Amino acid sequence: MQALAPRPGSLQIDGTLGGGGHAARILEAISPDGRLLGLDADAHAIERSARRLAPYGDHAQLRHANFSAVGAVAAEAGFDPADGILLDLGLSSDQLADATRGFSFRADGPLDMRFDPTRGTPASELVATLDEVELAALFRRFGEEPFAVRIARAIVAERRVEPIDTARRLAQVVERAAPGRVSGRRRVHPATRVFQALRIAVNSELEALEVALTAAVGLLRPGGRIVVLTYHSLEDRIVKRFIAAERRGCTCPPELPICVCGRRARLRIVPGTPATPTTDEIAANPRARSARLRAAERLAA
Ligand SMILES: C[S@@+](CC[C@H](N)C(=O)[O-])C[C@H]1O[C@@H](n2cnc3c(N)ncnc32)[C@H](O)[C@@H]1O
Repeated sequence: MQALAPRPGSLQIDGTLGGGGHAARILEAISPDGRLLGLDADAHAIERSARRLAPYGDHAQLRHANFSAVGAVAAEAGFDPADGILLDLGLSSDQLADATRGFSFRADGPLDMRFDPTRGTPASELVATLDEVELAALFRRFGEEPFAVRIARAIVAERRVEPIDTARRLAQVVERAAPGRVSGRRRVHPATRVFQALRIAVNSELEALEVALTAAVGLLRPGGRIVVLTYHSLEDRIVKRFIAAERRGCTCPPELPICVCGRRARLRIVPGTPATPTTDEIAANPRARSARLRAAERLAA
């Protein structure tokens, strides 16, 4: 909330409504006459947050949409330009707890992992159809998994015996193929990186983020802010590089004596960011442990 600094009367966009927690805080801050546009790719998240945000009436407008479409959705809803945009990436605790979605390796639900189960390909189909080389590449690229080859080989061998179509079965196959790891004082489940990789692939998460960041800078009015919460290094790297490029503006090679690209800096970093959670915050909410918040302000370029 400090980084976004939503003022009373302002127009704010929450690209990842989830349970509507951030949205409710933002709506309080922009009252009495501000408006919030909330997006989520998951229709269940829209339903839940619609109930939670009902007291705000027309001040909260919710759309079942991918945030990669934020440019068009915001224009149609009258949020172009906007004063603030929040992206709190990844999955929600509700999605993790729902055994029918396949996000948690502890649950025995179908291996789906789509934020929007009405579109695209479920994770079970990737696990059933990609060959060993493709699976290993996916686990390395989107999971930075050091045992990618061993895990891919085990999946291909196991799926000949019996389909790998539940989250728990995939977790067991990975567990047998790869040793557990210890991160700090916590033991990390061996399937963590494989699940992350599949989820990123199934939802085209990194592409959606790149598209949304570009659209967001175009939507912000001067002085408006974008705040992004990431939970792993791949998405954080995208946000960090994007902000760095928009701070620099000019993309001409250094050997050129003058700028020929004509690009101007469009963002400045919000002081006090990037930020990571305090030890107290992690103790109260362990799922925040890997969070990193980056925030930038639109310049009048
Ligand atoms: C970490 S949760 C957000 C929690 C929320 N800030 C709150 O206060 O409850 C992330 C949400 O973003 C949604 N999401 C992830 N990627 C998305 C995308 N590309 N477009 C729209 N929603 C997305 C997920 O469905 C999930 O509900």
